[in-house]
Amino acid sequence: MKRSHCRHQSLKNLSSINCLISAGPTREWIDPVRYLSNPSSGKMGYALAEVARDMGMMVKLVSGPVNIPAPEGVKVIGVESAIDMKDAILAEFEKADLVIMAAAVSDHRPEAFSNRKWTKEEFPEQLRMVRNPDILKLLGEAKKEGQVLVGFAAETHDVLPSAKRKLADKKLDWIVANDVSKSDCGFASDQNEVLLVGRNGFEKEIYLADKRVIAKEILHAIQSSWLEKAL
Ligand code: PMT
Repeated sequence: MKRSHCRHQSLKNLSSINCLISAGPTREWIDPVRYLSNPSSGKMGYALAEVARDMGMMVKLVSGPVNIPAPEGVKVIGVESAIDMKDAILAEFEKADLVIMAAAVSDHRPEAFSNRKWTKEEFPEQLRMVRNPDILKLLGEAKKEGQVLVGFAAETHDVLPSAKRKLADKKLDWIVANDVSKSDCGFASDQNEVLLVGRNGFEKEIYLADKRVIAKEILHAIQSSWLEKAL
């Protein structure tokens, strides 16, 4: 049977669904004591992992450095840099039915890493940066029939048009857009407010709520679309 068909058959209970989630920031090292990163706490990705686990899925969580304990029953793969995260995600991607990229992956890294700590005098006026791989784009290109790919979009303006552009450009099935310029949601907060857009035309504003509630809304919308296709 084609993978997508048999997967849908098993959707009555989600225990045969492999769910791969990324969470947290990445760290791009400059020298042994300095790195570039971002304020991601991992809360959104960890909430998604816990809800997916509670729905019965087998969950693997590729996590940047965060201060959140590994959720019970979830396999956590710890990574640091964007390149480490790419390698870990690609190693698991083939087996995954549902992939959710909630991590805040650095788009750039320092061109050179100094093995010695730079003194104040040595530290360069300008740091040359190079592009990191766009993991989500790689996944969109490698995606197989029956796999569902969910991206996040951290925006500060034009949230809907940016989200729809990413949905199309990166061949996603769903995109979760959040306005990270607001102080009471997005990075590090316990709450979030998102716009959930599906390739199937689904569009829903999920207003300010705890990240667990947001995670439930996202995963239930995905499950419903699976069941509709399966019926
Ligand atoms: O971790 P929290 O503190 O709970 O905060 C949650 C969050 C704000 C980090 C989360 O809700 C969120 O928005 N995550 C995505 C942040 C991000 O990197 O957005 P972006 O628009 O820069 O990236 C778009 C998508 O491409 C994301 O799915 C990202 O995982 C992915 N990406 C980005 C860069 C890159 N080099 N490779 C990628 O795969």
